[in-house]
Amino acid sequence: MCNTWANLERDCLTCKKCSLCETRTNVVFGEGNINSKVMLIGEGPGKEEDLQGRPFVGRSGKLLDKMLEKVGLSRQKNIYIANIVKCRPPQNRDPLPGEQNECMNWLRSQFTIINPKIIVALGRIAAARVIKPDLKITKEHGIIYKKKDIFMMAVFHPAALLRDQSKISFAEQDFAKLKHLIDKNISYS
Ligand code: URA
Repeated sequence: MCNTWANLERDCLTCKKCSLCETRTNVVFGEGNINSKVMLIGEGPGKEEDLQGRPFVGRSGKLLDKMLEKVGLSRQKNIYIANIVKCRPPQNRDPLPGEQNECMNWLRSQFTIINPKIIVALGRIAAARVIKPDLKITKEHGIIYKKKDIFMMAVFHPAALLRDQSKISFAEQDFAKLKHLIDKNISYS
């Protein structure tokens, strides 16, 4: 792991830039291979993530891992997963704009070091922050955007898939599209 990354993680783990630090158990910095060309961005830690200090380890994370595995992706191998906010918002409420603003510098630094070719926003909040503020997830999931040579796509948040199983087939199609995008644009040699 490079020094800069280790320093970034160390600093992030003691962050007190917003009041979420008062109620968190652990900062959830992110997880995966930092040499990946694909980065997934969620919204913020839930209860289980807060307890473990790892992203997407609850029910929605298990579903996400299953869907990723089907297209040859895993956090142990070829993706990195992080969130817009690194600390759990109480009662899993949406992170407030001010909390997101304070936290975005950590994510920007993660982007700078990882330098992904493809970014996948998991759900509306991440899509609004990373792709475009008015992105409508129901209409615009699966669309490939390109900004400064980086491909970006929003998919339904796995928690939304757990709430409404009829969305699962859309998510599967989006992940298949992601695999195609990776196969066309990324060489793992
Ligand atoms: N939901 C998110 O958006 N991120 C997590 O890490 C877990 C659940």
